[in-house]
Amino acid sequence: MPAKNINDIVALCKRRGFIYQGSEIYGGLQGLYDYGPYGVEMMKNIRDAWWRAMVYERDDVEGMEAALISSRLLWKYSGHEAGFSDPLVECKKCGLRMRLDKMKDETKCDSCGTTDLTPPRDYQLMMGLSLGAVADGEINAYLRPETATTTFTNFKNVLDSVPHKLPFGIVQIGKAFRNEISPRGFVFRMREFEQAELQYFVRPGEDDAQYEEWKQTRMNWWITELGIPAEKLRFAPHEKLSHYAKAAFDIEYEFPDGFDEVEGLHNRQDFDLGSHTKGQGDFKIAAQVLENKESTVKLAYSDPQTGESFIPYVIETAMGVNRAMFAVMVQAYNDEDLGDGKSRIVLKLPPKLSPVKAAVIPLARNVPELLDMANGIVGDLRKLGLGRIELENSGNIGKNYRRHDEIGPPVCITVDHQTLEDGMVTLRHRDTMVQERIAATDVPARLREIVIR
Ligand code: GAP
Repeated sequence: MPAKNINDIVALCKRRGFIYQGSEIYGGLQGLYDYGPYGVEMMKNIRDAWWRAMVYERDDVEGMEAALISSRLLWKYSGHEAGFSDPLVECKKCGLRMRLDKMKDETKCDSCGTTDLTPPRDYQLMMGLSLGAVADGEINAYLRPETATTTFTNFKNVLDSVPHKLPFGIVQIGKAFRNEISPRGFVFRMREFEQAELQYFVRPGEDDAQYEEWKQTRMNWWITELGIPAEKLRFAPHEKLSHYAKAAFDIEYEFPDGFDEVEGLHNRQDFDLGSHTKGQGDFKIAAQVLENKESTVKLAYSDPQTGESFIPYVIETAMGVNRAMFAVMVQAYNDEDLGDGKSRIVLKLPPKLSPVKAAVIPLARNVPELLDMANGIVGDLRKLGLGRIELENSGNIGKNYRRHDEIGPPVCITVDHQTLEDGMVTLRHRDTMVQERIAATDVPARLREIVIR
């Protein structure tokens, strides 16, 4: 049974070193979180699973990583500077600032209930910067609010250096920044977060079929790679399409408070390359774009057969990495009744995503022979390169098992006095708590089998 309450996940994340409140020792800063020793491992595992599926297992997708800060002009022509805003309402009595479309009742303050509110105004979500020695307050750059735009502006660079025929894609994983009015739901809506986005360039006319294919590909990835059961996921169409989008669906996961977005899938037509290209007049651009006389590069594709130059359409898949990890944690969390008034909390994570792949535990603390044997096994397991392997030398086997149940290694390996006699260790399985005796020399092969299933 997945977590029924977000607070259980928040408490586990803090207790076991997955996620902490940002700026915590100075009272915290809303919408910002720091990832601890196990949180960084899980984020890395999710990124790796995504990169593997999107880049290593395909011939038609390249990776890149752009700077987090970019010129104001990128965000002017992408439409973000004028249009990336949320409607903000302020309470005149208690000063609370609220996002109009997220208020419980649009006529009353969410906190004090008064109806004395300011009229809504557009609130810019991008974080502007005055880079270099510019006049006070002059914004000449932005922290990016998505990875997508910096992929579009590098379209020609990537295509020139690594030639591809259409259709092909470019992906990025990286930070995005949004000055959200009301961050909420722990790491669900943050002001600094991470995205994993694909921009897939296709011929106009082939876009509808490609869009449908990517919808299925991405949904399958959530099920097979993140281990989320199909019935906990669904497609949700956008109620209102952005002016550039031909189609837009979200993948939603059923969090304890209900279904909510974890990934967006968009047919963006030729809006993006059309917005940023030089010589817009040379092309038939279907989407409505801002006139651009400042771009210095044509972002077009030359058909090798016909020689015709045109602006490709874009199919976008945009996943939030923090939301993916959050969904995986919610799904893996189990509060198990063990009978006799005993219970345990266990994270039943897919082994590939577990922050620790195995914990090796000498049964008694600081017994040199046990420690040597345990260290030998740790060394052998680390050579596999599967990820983090822990030596747990704190005694008290029961407490150690409980701790590791909450962190999620698929197995614990216990070394005891008998091991010194016969070379056999106890392999304890996290999900079933079943224990088996196997030869220490067989442990690496078993672990590999468990993690790379
Ligand atoms: N380039 C398109 C784009 O950025 P989006 O729907 O705004 O689309 C994509 O964002 C994904 O990024 C969302 O599905 C969500 O998982 C994640 N995301 C967006 N805003 C977020 C926030 N404030 N905090 C955490 N994740 C966020």
